[in-house]
Amino acid sequence: MAVIPVELAGRSYEVLVGNGLLNDAIVQARDFIEPYHGRKVPVVADRNALEHHGERLAHSLASDGFGIEWYVVEPGEAAKSWTGLQDLVDWMLALGLTRGDHVFALGGGVVGDLTGFACSIMKRGCGFVQLPTTLLAQVDSSVGGKTAINTAAGKNLVGAFHQPSLVLADLDALATLPPRELRAGYAEVLKYGVLGDADFFDWLEEHGEAVLGLQDAELERAVANSVAAKARIVAEDERETTGKRALLNLGHTFGHALEAETGFSDRLLHGEGVALGMVLAARYSARRGQISEAEASRVTRAIDATGLPAEISALGLDCDGKALVAHMLQDKKMDASGTLPFILLRSIGAAYVDREVALDDVAAFLDEQLQAH
Ligand code: GLY
Repeated sequence: MAVIPVELAGRSYEVLVGNGLLNDAIVQARDFIEPYHGRKVPVVADRNALEHHGERLAHSLASDGFGIEWYVVEPGEAAKSWTGLQDLVDWMLALGLTRGDHVFALGGGVVGDLTGFACSIMKRGCGFVQLPTTLLAQVDSSVGGKTAINTAAGKNLVGAFHQPSLVLADLDALATLPPRELRAGYAEVLKYGVLGDADFFDWLEEHGEAVLGLQDAELERAVANSVAAKARIVAEDERETTGKRALLNLGHTFGHALEAETGFSDRLLHGEGVALGMVLAARYSARRGQISEAEASRVTRAIDATGLPAEISALGLDCDGKALVAHMLQDKKMDASGTLPFILLRSIGAAYVDREVALDDVAAFLDEQLQAH
């Protein structure tokens, strides 16, 4: 098991990465379960996660006499809504939870984001523990305290920074993930190499297949390394004010445009959009002469080798570069000054925020990419 501290003044916590952590939850999360003597432990769970992992968690808690009060969330982004939030907060209030209590979130990013946000406003902020069961949630959304819901105006536009008190990333949970979702999560793992750690990128080029094959040692190293990378960035720039945390958006601005154009649907999962977005960020960096074509090709190959989409021309989009840029302008990553910062590369392992990118040049580049290959 790896233990990764997230160091934040007054709000530090640990992310535990390893096998069997849900079976061991009563031991690992004892401090947050103990206050529930005589009451049931509130657990918000995605229906799939409940089906696959609920029993292990329940068994662990029952070994010390604790029962669970389940709140089941249907899979999919629809749960991250105003009504979804209201229903969840009403449930917490009906349970009589206090500010000192902790709610447990079992599932992927949707459950983590929704539960975290509900906990941030519950009696002005109660605690929560993340039990992420998808690769994407384990390496990204469960760590760092971004919580949110979606509204008619866009995704994740309403939310709060609210850090969990503990994250248990049980690698065994990944065995029941559909392969496509596992690959989508892996895009975020690769992202940490591309944005800030060339050695990790090298290692993933060699061991990516073993990671996706869920080989214990390689998987633990990949997840723990990703979490450690994110923890370092969050510790430096918790609220994304200095530009450091913005590096985590590598691939997200291009990816967001593709997700928007495909209607945020199963046509393109978030991680797939990030994978394509990283290819585009690398190629655009090469076009501007900041990295070599060979480096951009390495990024493309690392993504393509996993079966993730690597060419936007293959998406069959019926739009031009301008339309994709228009989607980018709707994204929350827009600066107060009205500029759209792009995360580009100086090399593999060295991303930076570029605020001087001309949008008509991006549109022309995207036109080429839509037609290429
Ligand atoms: N997922 C990007 C961040 O947590 O900042």
